[in-house]
Amino acid sequence: LPVATLDNSVTPMALREFAQFRALVHMHTGIWLRDGKQIMLASRLSRRLRHHGLTDFAEYLTLVQQVQDNGEELRELINCVTTNKTSFFRENHHFQFLANTIVPAIKSANLRSGPRTIRIWSAASSTGEEAYSIAITLLEAIEGGGATHRIAHPSFSSAGWRIAIEASDIDTKVLATAQRAVYSADALTTVAPPLRKKYFLRGKDDMIGQVMVKPEVRRLAHFQRINLMDNYWPVEGPFDVIFFRNALIYFNQDTQEVFLRKMASLLRPRGYLFLGSAEHIPWLHDILEPLNQTMYRLRGPEE
Ligand SMILES: C[S@@+](CC[C@H](N)C(=O)[O-])C[C@H]1O[C@@H](n2cnc3c(N)ncnc32)[C@H](O)[C@@H]1O
Repeated sequence: LPVATLDNSVTPMALREFAQFRALVHMHTGIWLRDGKQIMLASRLSRRLRHHGLTDFAEYLTLVQQVQDNGEELRELINCVTTNKTSFFRENHHFQFLANTIVPAIKSANLRSGPRTIRIWSAASSTGEEAYSIAITLLEAIEGGGATHRIAHPSFSSAGWRIAIEASDIDTKVLATAQRAVYSADALTTVAPPLRKKYFLRGKDDMIGQVMVKPEVRRLAHFQRINLMDNYWPVEGPFDVIFFRNALIYFNQDTQEVFLRKMASLLRPRGYLFLGSAEHIPWLHDILEPLNQTMYRLRGPEE
C-alpha cells in the first residue's frame, strides 16, 4: 500500500521506495529508519523533490543514485534524515562532572608534570550547543569564573592550559549553524543566568531575539564533518573525554559497537566517554567501566 505524504504536490511514497531509501541511508550513515518512519521521511524529502521540480520519489531516488559520485544530493538527503535535537547544558550532570572532577584532576597532574592539552570531542555535535557548553564549562572551571580572554586556542592560558575541543557531525546544515554560533534567545533558558551575559552577545536591530556565542568561546571549538561510518576519522586524540550523546539510538548494536570500540581506542588512559541518558552499553563493560549517569571510564592503568 502506498503511504500518504503531507504534501499534495508529491506522489505518495510507496513502501518499496521507502525500503530503497532505508537501505541507502543505512549504507551511508548507519542510521536505521524503523518501520513506520515513511511519513516522516516522505515529508522531510518532499522539500528536495520540489527543489528539483520532481513529483515522484522514484525519480528522486534515481537522481540521488545517479549523482552519488559527487555526493552533493546524497548529503542533502542525509541532512533531511538526521534528527538534531540538542540544547545548551543538556544533561547538565555531565558538565558538572567535567568541572568538578575531571578539570581538578588534570589541574593537579599539570602541577606535577607541566601543562598539557585537554582534548574533548563532541562526536555528534548537532548545532553546536554541546561543544559550546563544554567550552564554557572549561573556561569557568579553569579560570575559576574569572577573566576569559586569556585563553586562546590553541595557545597556553595563564593557568597553563591548552584546550582543544573537536566537534563533528555528519549533517552539513547543522555544522553551518554551529559555526555561525547564532541562536534564538530562547536557547539560553538552559544556561545559568550569570553565564548568559558573560559568554553571549545579545542581537540588536535585525538580530533582535537572537544571541551569539562570544569569540573567546567560539575559538575553542573546531567543527568539521565526520561521518562516523567512514573508516578514517580525522581527529587527533587521545581525548580526555568524548561526548557521544543521544546518537547511539539511531544505530543497530553492531554499528554501535564498532563506533564505541573505536572511540575507546582514542581515549587517554582512564579517559571518559559520556552517552545520552537512555543509552546503556552493558555489552562493553569489559573495556568501559560504568560510572553513574551514563558516564563511562576506560579501564586499564592510569597514565
Ligand atoms: C540528537 S543529535 C545529538 C546532539 C548532541 N550530542 C546532544 O546530545 O544534544 C544526534 C546527531 O547525530 C548525528 N549523526 C547521525 N548519524 C551520524 C553519523 N553516521 N556520523 C556522525 N553524526 C551522525 C546527527 O546528524 C545529529 O546531529
